[in-house]
Amino acid sequence: MSKKEVVETTEAQIAVHWKEENYYYPSTKFIAQANLNDVEVFDRFSLDNFPDCYTEYAELLTWYKYWDEVLDSSDAPCFKWFKGGLLNASYNCIDRHLKNNKNKTAIHFVPELEEEKIEHITYQELYVKVNEFAALLRDFAGLKRGDRVTIHMPMSAELPITMLACARIGVIHSVVFGGFSASACADRIVDSNSRVLITMDAYYRGGKLLNHKVNADEAVKISADDGQVVDKVLVWQRYPGKISSDTPMVKGRDFFVNDELKKFYGARVEPEKMLSEDPLFLMYTSGTTGKPKGCQHGTGGYLAYVTAMSKYIQDIHPEDVYWCMADIGWITGHSFIVYGPLALCASSVIYEGVPTYPDAGRSWRIAQELDVNIFHTAPTAIRALRKLGPDEPAKYNYHFKHMTTVGEPIEPAVWKWYESAVGKGEAIIVDTWWQTETGGFLCSTVPGLSPMKPGSAGPGVPGIHPIILDDDGNEITEPGIAGNICIQNPWPGMLQTVWGNRQRFVDTYFAQYCKDPNSKDWRDWPYLAGDAATKSEDGYYRILGRIDDVINVSGHRLGTKEIESAAMVVDEVAEAAVVPVSHDIKGKEPDLYIALKTGVEPSEELARKISDAICDQIGKIAKPRKVWLVPDMPKTRSGKIMRRVLGAISNKGDVGNVMTLANPEVVEEIKHMVQK
Ligand code: PRX
Repeated sequence: MSKKEVVETTEAQIAVHWKEENYYYPSTKFIAQANLNDVEVFDRFSLDNFPDCYTEYAELLTWYKYWDEVLDSSDAPCFKWFKGGLLNASYNCIDRHLKNNKNKTAIHFVPELEEEKIEHITYQELYVKVNEFAALLRDFAGLKRGDRVTIHMPMSAELPITMLACARIGVIHSVVFGGFSASACADRIVDSNSRVLITMDAYYRGGKLLNHKVNADEAVKISADDGQVVDKVLVWQRYPGKISSDTPMVKGRDFFVNDELKKFYGARVEPEKMLSEDPLFLMYTSGTTGKPKGCQHGTGGYLAYVTAMSKYIQDIHPEDVYWCMADIGWITGHSFIVYGPLALCASSVIYEGVPTYPDAGRSWRIAQELDVNIFHTAPTAIRALRKLGPDEPAKYNYHFKHMTTVGEPIEPAVWKWYESAVGKGEAIIVDTWWQTETGGFLCSTVPGLSPMKPGSAGPGVPGIHPIILDDDGNEITEPGIAGNICIQNPWPGMLQTVWGNRQRFVDTYFAQYCKDPNSKDWRDWPYLAGDAATKSEDGYYRILGRIDDVINVSGHRLGTKEIESAAMVVDEVAEAAVVPVSHDIKGKEPDLYIALKTGVEPSEELARKISDAICDQIGKIAKPRKVWLVPDMPKTRSGKIMRRVLGAISNKGDVGNVMTLANPEVVEEIKHMVQK
């Protein structure tokens, strides 16, 4: 049975016959310095000690007032962590470090174009910038505790400054990935009822200066059509004069932050004392149906969890220089560029652009220049770096002690290159499995305690108790048999709810396995992650991929329904079906099948129009590998499109028995078209 078939099946019990890899062990040098090297941690975090074990994580933070209750399950599954506690995330990431570390670099910002012009922002400078911007948000934009703000910004130092300024005054930020289109941004503005949009004029990507402000204009227009008025657009200006002629500022609505900030020179803003259970931010992610959902993360639970993960799994010490290549517009960037590392007073690197621009050595030059010793990236980037410059890392003088991979399954061969070429055989690797919803890691090895195994994420991290269930809720205990991976217990980093849609939250993550919908006992609410996985004899989990209609492109989640709905906007389209196709670098790519309305002639031009519509509505990341204009969709007799058959055709697999379909003859026609 091929791996692909396993990934795409919806039936739980399928044996996965692939070999388990050999272990790799951390060096004694690494173990000696590791933040976590006492094996008792697993006992301390056993289910018997749940939920009190998690106070160990909360104690990594500075609280104005300690909590009254570790876990409040009275509104399950909307769990409240460290209930009654008071804290501020911006205080924890900045102010508390000033006494001893104000001159230490908090952020190294590396621009794409001028390699030598790296900005080094100290904790004191970060404090000043965050305070001034927080004052602007409060006194100029009129924002107050509990308001939502949409932030559509590229990778820049101003992005974490903006997020931390929001956190300082208790405003809930909703960051939209900079590469997303205006329309995707508008969806998030409307859903979160943001009346302020924060953006940036432009940024460099792959050597080109991209006009970003233009997206804001469009997003505000679309939002207004959908009933959400944005009355202020705050534009950080990095390239004055370079793009302003194309995108005039709208009087009374658009303001350059750089100009307005002058009025707040030297301003200081007392951090709001937030309840632990107050939301810190929203992060939208793709799901099975409809529009992306706003995962709502709380202040105390989330911050405690990501700080602990950064400390114990990423092994960040205050003296480390840490570089996570993810985009801050995704959860990885929120948790592991901004909140986790800064709460630990580390120096966090932010790189503006493409890891291989202008050449395959760029990433390693950055590592050398900044003395990066902890490195964090995704399989898609590792594959690209390996393909373009397998021998490049050896040319540069850097030494990683620790490396992370995240976002999608990593093939053992790629893992081994990462270990030997990028890590130079000196670094330990953690393969961290988790999700936007989970705030921080679910499965990973603890680097100083357990050996690594290429291709396996590892056991649950301390405090996380995974279980593999079949579709009926029975535990699958036999090693190597795939099922739905669930987490038996809630944990502080998990989403609190789906913004404005509790029912969707319950239905998506709990309905399938909830033992009693009225229960206030956390034991009755196992969390369904939506991935298929196997557990091996040593307790390590191997993640196989999504069980729902989500495609993971370069580690980014895209809903097949989102792409299909974008295609349906084109007038000539009658039906659309998206299937994932394997890709060397990206992991997966969407392949789009289209049936046209009667009488419409297929043409290259039309295919291009459909592809462009998708890029416009979602972003280039969703661009289909190919738009196939097919005579008809293969369908069951009840009229359901057989995506499984299309998937097999796209991936040159076996379509199986199609004779029971309503229109079996079309399968051959499509096959001929696609596989020729
Ligand atoms: O399918 C899993 C995959 O990415 C999904 C979560 O995507 P997102 O919410 O965008 O968060 C990405 C960053 C955490 C998961 O459901 N995934 C994530 N990490 C891994 C992974 N698959 C295999 N191995 C991983 N380490």
